Amino acid sequence: MTSIFDKKIDRRNTHSLKWDEMESRYGISSDDGLPMWVADMDFRPPQAVNDMVARAAEHGINGYYGNDVPYKEAIISWMKRRHQFDVSADWITTVPGVVAGYSMAIQAFSEEGDGVLVFSPVYHAFGRAVRDNNRRLVESQLIERDGAYYMDFDNLKDQIDERTKILLLCSPHNPGGRVWTSEELTRICEFCLENNILIISDEIHHDLILDGSKHVVTATLSEKIAERTITFTSASKTFNLAGFATAACLISNKELRDAYRKVCTACGVHSTPLGSQATTEAYNHGEEWLAELCDYVAANQELLIEGLEAAIPGAKVMRMASTYLEWVDFKDVDLPFDEIVNRIQKQAKIAVNIGSTFGKGGETFLRFNLACPKSTVEEAIKRLEDVFADLRMQANA
Ligand SMILES: Cc1ncc(COP(=O)(O)O)c(C=O)c1O
Repeated sequence: MTSIFDKKIDRRNTHSLKWDEMESRYGISSDDGLPMWVADMDFRPPQAVNDMVARAAEHGINGYYGNDVPYKEAIISWMKRRHQFDVSADWITTVPGVVAGYSMAIQAFSEEGDGVLVFSPVYHAFGRAVRDNNRRLVESQLIERDGAYYMDFDNLKDQIDERTKILLLCSPHNPGGRVWTSEELTRICEFCLENNILIISDEIHHDLILDGSKHVVTATLSEKIAERTITFTSASKTFNLAGFATAACLISNKELRDAYRKVCTACGVHSTPLGSQATTEAYNHGEEWLAELCDYVAANQELLIEGLEAAIPGAKVMRMASTYLEWVDFKDVDLPFDEIVNRIQKQAKIAVNIGSTFGKGGETFLRFNLACPKSTVEEAIKRLEDVFADLRMQANA
């Protein structure tokens, strides 16, 4: 069966980070390299978004943004129908990205030298936002069990101190794609309430559910938890709109909201007409597109699991329930890790993210972006078969 996502779109020379900086960052030319690193998709968004952009180009004036009513209504409706999360318009603060948003929250709600708790390995910008704000990164390493990550509740108390002020939660989790259950979320949030730790919940991947799991919005767990939770979300990951630099911060607690907005105002944060309208169009018209996308990524995952594990003896793909970022462990591959990376990046010319950049526990992993046409995944597998042929011969000898 064919899909709209099968189409190969040439993204070279479009100021695409993924394609146009592959050479400078990885030494891999975009002429024959396969970019499977940074988290954006090689797919066009829902048609309604591009129609809006065409209308805006036709009109041609790009001044400051005003009238956010349709934008807020679109967010409220999306959160309600997709996530059973009742959001009020005044809870929404628009920020230029989720990372920028939680970085400002770190500034608003902690002091230099305070601790910020994360579950590692985790999306690399978590560590950066903490360290570059001169806060301490407190890493609680996730436990891998039966091919999935779990929080280590037994060791949590020992890892924090009275200066640990914030939990920066990734839900669903990147990398690994765990969709946390409401029991797990309630347990970690109760722990935060007991220890006076503010919860910042990055839920940017919440729409990208591949296996029917139910994403639970942290702030819906209880009134008490909502009062101490700041939620970040965006249409950017769901609909491939990262270039519009638009994300939403949702805070029900007025005191926290006022304190947060003060930092945003101090930083001169403002919304953009294109970013806000792209979000509105995607939320209002993108549901069918999203369903097809999730099925497509799920099928790419099956391809990769089968193909990669057969191509590289010992490699183990962590099956993701969410995201499009496949986390692959090379710990049991009979080669030094540097040599594995060398073969994948330099010989097979596949640009992937290096696991150690995700913090503790990521050292033996690489992350593959599967938001690409199926033919790209097939080509990657073919190249991996070639460059690891000797290992398969050894294993079969
Ligand atoms: C968990 C998580 N949060 C945030 C981001 C980036 O968000 P933004 O581009 O809005 O800063 C990513 C991108 O991959 C991510 O995986």
